Amino acid sequence: MAKTRNLLFEPCISDISYDFLEHSKLYSYQAKEYSERLNAVMSSDYFMRNISHHSIELGFCEEYDLVINTPLPPLAKALNQLNQERSSQRNYDPDNKLSLQDLSQFLYLSYSITQRFDPLLLIPPRRNIPSGGGLYPIDVYVINQLIEELPLGVFLYDLFSSKLKLIHAFKDREELKVALNTTLFAEQKNDIDYSNSSAFMVLGAELERSCFKYLDRGIRWAMIEAGEIVQSMYLASGSLAMRTCAIGGFNDEALAQLISYQNPSQITLLALSLGK
Ligand SMILES: Cc1cc2nc3c(=O)[nH]c(=O)nc-3n(C[C@H](O)[C@H](O)[C@H](O)COP(=O)(O)O)c2cc1C
Repeated sequence: MAKTRNLLFEPCISDISYDFLEHSKLYSYQAKEYSERLNAVMSSDYFMRNISHHSIELGFCEEYDLVINTPLPPLAKALNQLNQERSSQRNYDPDNKLSLQDLSQFLYLSYSITQRFDPLLLIPPRRNIPSGGGLYPIDVYVINQLIEELPLGVFLYDLFSSKLKLIHAFKDREELKVALNTTLFAEQKNDIDYSNSSAFMVLGAELERSCFKYLDRGIRWAMIEAGEIVQSMYLASGSLAMRTCAIGGFNDEALAQLISYQNPSQITLLALSLGK
């Protein structure tokens, strides 16, 4: 490949991948059918029992016991405790809202720079999560509902400056309510206590950031990275005595509009509710 090619300006996501991304979007007209399907699975003892106990059938093979009952070093103990406590928490205390400090600590522990750029050694900045090629295609957005020190609005979390950048301010609570209903189907779904969640996190991917190097395969790495951040958010929330839950059912187009994505290569991969 010629060295002079400017990879940054070449289209790198195939039409087929865009078709897939389009097909996997959820629109408001599908929301009812989608949640009926989910409820059908979740209300069935048979499905729930079998799904949660599944494993790959290998037939006969040799087996070796793992040795896990040995004492753990202190950091490992802390991680083990966090792992035991991690769970999806769907209800939030209406009398115990998050403060800006709570949110700041949560964001810092979930996703932050752990090593700054060293121009002498040309070491790029490092974050608390691994990233295919160190390209970090995920952006974290915050929708504030109940945090009093912040306006009601949508923010980009800038982890370089540790600032929240206001993208959209809601005129009033009513506009926020309509936005949550349109984007997260807050009034149509009763799985999560949307109205008492202090804030919502939105994980948006800029796929080009990963695909310019890895082509369509970069889409996989972006999805994996969103998973890493979700897990990190769950553990951060557990360590700070907060409650969080992933939200997979959202209106892709409405969220894209609310966040003002600028390119079709920007997509939302997941949202989360956060409270106490
Ligand atoms: C990608 C993804 C999407 C999810 N979407 C939802 C959702 O829309 N609503 C919900 O109540 N829980 C959602 N969850 C939470 C799962 O239901 C939960 O993780 C699972 O039941 C296991 O329970 P646990 O997290 O408490 O261990 C989602 C989790 C993931 C990872």
